[in-house]
Amino acid sequence: MSTEVTESAVPPPTAPSADSSAEPSSAPSRRTFIATTTAVGGAVVAGGLTTGPAALAAETGAAAKAPPNSRVSLTVNGRRHTVTVDNRTSLLDLLREHLDLPGSKKGCNAGACGACTVLVDGHRVNSCLTLAVRLDGAEVTTIEGLAPGGADGELHPLQQAFIDEDAFQCGYCTPGQIVSGVGCIQEGHTGSADEIREWMSGNICRCGCYVKIVRAVEQTARGK
Ligand code: FES
Ligand code: FES
Repeated sequence: MSTEVTESAVPPPTAPSADSSAEPSSAPSRRTFIATTTAVGGAVVAGGLTTGPAALAAETGAAAKAPPNSRVSLTVNGRRHTVTVDNRTSLLDLLREHLDLPGSKKGCNAGACGACTVLVDGHRVNSCLTLAVRLDGAEVTTIEGLAPGGADGELHPLQQAFIDEDAFQCGYCTPGQIVSGVGCIQEGHTGSADEIREWMSGNICRCGCYVKIVRAVEQTARGK
C-alpha cells in the first residue's frame, strides 16, 4: 500500500482531456484528490497515528533527542575500562573496534557459529549478541586473557593442547573454540567425548577439526 502511495506522489503529466473543463469547478480534480490522499497516507505510514506534518516533526524531534550513547565500565582480561559507546554496540565490536582486542572473531554476527565466544563473569556468551551497555561492572575474559603469562609467556593448557593435537586448520574458529572449551571444562561437562561434543555444539568449525578439538578439551580436562 505504501508503495502505491509513494509512486502516486508525482503523477505523470497528463494531456488535458477534451471534457476536463466539463467537471464542476467545486468538485475536487483527480490531481487534487491524489495529492491529498498521498499527504495523509505518507503521514500515517511514517508516523503511525500522526495526523499532520506538525505532529510528525514533533515525533522526529523527540527521537533525535534520545541519548544514543551510554557510559559503561567493565573489566577485560584484568584491566578496567570505562568507555562511552553507542547503545547498539555489541560486546564483540567493543572488544575489536574500541579496545584493540581482535582475537574474538566475527563469523556470522548472529549467534550461530561461536567464533565470538568470550567469558562474561565466567560464563560463555556469544559476544556478537551481547550489548556492551548491559555489562557495567562485568568481568570479561577473551582469548587474549587466557594465557597466564600474557602474549609472550606460558600458554593456557587448552591453547597448548590445541597445538599438540593440531586441532585447527585455518584457525578462524579457534579462539572461540578455545574459550568455549575453557568454559566447558569449568562447567564440568567433560565426562565423555559425547558430552564435550554436546556442550561444544555451539562452536562451528568449517574445516571439520571436531575430532581433534574434542580430544584437546578431553585431555586438558584430565590434566594431561
Ligand atoms: Fe557470534 Fe557467530 S559471530 S556467533
Ligand atoms: Fe578453520 Fe575451524 S579451523 S574453521
